[in-house]
Amino acid sequence: MSTNTKIAPSILSADFANLGPEITAIDKAGADYIHIDVMDGNFVPNITIGPNVVKATRKYSDKIFDVHLMINNPDQYVQEFADAGADIITIHAEATTHLDRSVELIKQTGKKVGVSIVPSTSDDVLDYVLDKLDLILVMTVNPGFGGQKFLHSQLKKIESLRNKIEQSGRNIDLEVDGGINPETAKLAISAGANVLVAGSAVFKGNASDYQKNIDALR
Ligand code: DX5
Ligand code: ZN
Repeated sequence: MSTNTKIAPSILSADFANLGPEITAIDKAGADYIHIDVMDGNFVPNITIGPNVVKATRKYSDKIFDVHLMINNPDQYVQEFADAGADIITIHAEATTHLDRSVELIKQTGKKVGVSIVPSTSDDVLDYVLDKLDLILVMTVNPGFGGQKFLHSQLKKIESLRNKIEQSGRNIDLEVDGGINPETAKLAISAGANVLVAGSAVFKGNASDYQKNIDALR
């Protein structure tokens, strides 16, 4: 068990009719971050939640709200998610033309800034913004849905980014998202990830199982 590994349950796999109490349940079960997947039906083929839901659920946990924006033109919504209570705002490198400007926009809100890349994107796109980032999110599935299979091809990318982070001397979270279960968690951790997003592996069974599910990933 690694005590340095943070677990970020993705509420995409929670019971949406019971979202507030589900967030409290994962908080109590030992979640480090609450991972919130925002999808626009444009950047990804699915629509999930918006800033109003972030705002409404904010009172159910004091843990870090880790907001993953899978939306095109994220600049337009950054302030709204900041005001709604996000602590980390992660955008996709593929969803904005001027990544450096988008990163700066998030920094101006005073929130932590993350950038994510999909499986087909090389980690090189982060080279010129790395010195501004608090979090890098490597997608280990093609984003859009929970319950997909982990793409082993991404392990090399995680290793490469871990090296770049060490060289930078900055305190940057290296987060992985998609297909994480107790087996793939081990691979991601040994490649250098320190934050694991997990949806279906955490929200398995009922609330009394969440702690056991989270512990199995560390
Ligand atoms: C995928 C989302 C993930 C997803 C992970 O597009 O970004 O956060 O909920 O779900 P699992 O852990 O079930 O692969
Ligand atoms: Zn996510």
